[in-house]
Amino acid sequence: MVVYQIYPRSFADSDGDGVGDVPGVCSHLDHLQWLGVDALWLGPINPSPMADGGYDVADYRGVDPVFGTVEDVERLAAAAKRRGIDLLLDVVPCHTSIEHPWFRDRPELYVWSPEDGPPNNWRGAFGGPAWSQDPHGRGWYLHSFYAEQPDLDWRNPEVARELAGVLAFWRAKGVAGFRLDALQQLLKDPELRDDPPATGPSLMAGHPEHEALEHRFSSDRPGVGQAVAALRAGAGDDAFLVGEIGLPADRHAPYLEHLDASFCFELFFAAWEAEALKDAITAGLAAGKASWVLSNHDFPRLADRIGRANVAAAALLLLALPGPVFLFQGDELALGNGPGRPPGALPAPPYDRAGRDAFRHPMPWTELGPHHDFTAGTPWLEVVNAPEGSAKRQRVVPGSPARFVRELIALRRRLAGPVEDLTADDGVLSFRRGEHLVAVNTAGVERRAPPGGDVLLATVNRSDSLLPAGGASISQAV
Ligand code: NOJ
Repeated sequence: MVVYQIYPRSFADSDGDGVGDVPGVCSHLDHLQWLGVDALWLGPINPSPMADGGYDVADYRGVDPVFGTVEDVERLAAAAKRRGIDLLLDVVPCHTSIEHPWFRDRPELYVWSPEDGPPNNWRGAFGGPAWSQDPHGRGWYLHSFYAEQPDLDWRNPEVARELAGVLAFWRAKGVAGFRLDALQQLLKDPELRDDPPATGPSLMAGHPEHEALEHRFSSDRPGVGQAVAALRAGAGDDAFLVGEIGLPADRHAPYLEHLDASFCFELFFAAWEAEALKDAITAGLAAGKASWVLSNHDFPRLADRIGRANVAAAALLLLALPGPVFLFQGDELALGNGPGRPPGALPAPPYDRAGRDAFRHPMPWTELGPHHDFTAGTPWLEVVNAPEGSAKRQRVVPGSPARFVRELIALRRRLAGPVEDLTADDGVLSFRRGEHLVAVNTAGVERRAPPGGDVLLATVNRSDSLLPAGGASISQAV
């Protein structure tokens, strides 16, 4: 299964307001079908003050007018289905927006300090204390992320009931599954004990204040499986559920009991180095149900993170692994980071206080005009073209990143069987899948290719025995 991640604000604008929307997604489904993906994951589209790019939800059953309507989502689900593509929505069960009516009217759904002040040392993921004073004067509430995102209290069965209802609501609209946000944050220590100091680097490259603590009590507490089970019950057994769990894969088991997949962040954050990639893949495979991802809306784009010279090899590695694979919009174009919010703009909605706008620039669809057909208006964030050109150009230029990704997705359908003989030798990662051999040169200089048969697909021309720098290939195994 290959899932294409869409950042709704930056995919395609249908009404000229400069912001991508759901009808815009509908009008570009041909691109997804051309690539050959099986599903699309649409980032949050619910009504939101956008303090965190829509991960601050003010109504789980609505659609923000900037993105369209519930009927637009229904139309998208049906139109995608006709092209053999499932629609997955992003659901944010850990917290709501501070402007969700529940926060005002049903405070019992949230986590409160028993004291008149923060009861412990917990930090928010973006830095600063994880506790803030309630603007309605009811004390101090917990927020694992921004202060505008109060945490729901998953120890209150009403929360599970409400969120399960949300998933059922969207299933009835034709949605096939969900990407579940920040599941490690669902259950905290009921005694609110202090987090101890961190003893080593954490998996996610987060804010230094947050990473200074080991999140032993502020996240991932026993019983979390029950919370995830409630989400599964709401979604139905046939829904596809992938969890974003910000923990090492060997701690995903209680979540995975009720999910189809979880992101293996070991691979996401592995250095582009054969040994590190091998360890990351091993960790994901050991956990079972790993899904693979190297890029999303939260971190620098691949070209900026691992180097442009390695982007094609990364696509090959990703798409050669068994289990679900996630591609972030624009990865197929080898898009790089943009400059982020316009000069002079405040780090306030719609821009991100944590500085992630640079990874969220709109899609360049054509070479036309200053905005590459992303919008007929003024884009919320500048459209930056890929060095190899827009989507339209790349679809026709032989050897373009987009055509390479398409060929990989097609070849992937022929790869069968588990990862075997995983090795990292002299900077070359290699493994076998059934009758195929995958090799990735991370050394930065030419290396000997592991012995194999005919090369079926390669990032750059390789000879029978040599893999150039940045080279990767899929060949017949011998
Ligand atoms: C993970 C999302 O990907 C990120 O964008 C968001 O800020 C946090 N979860 C909080 O919801």
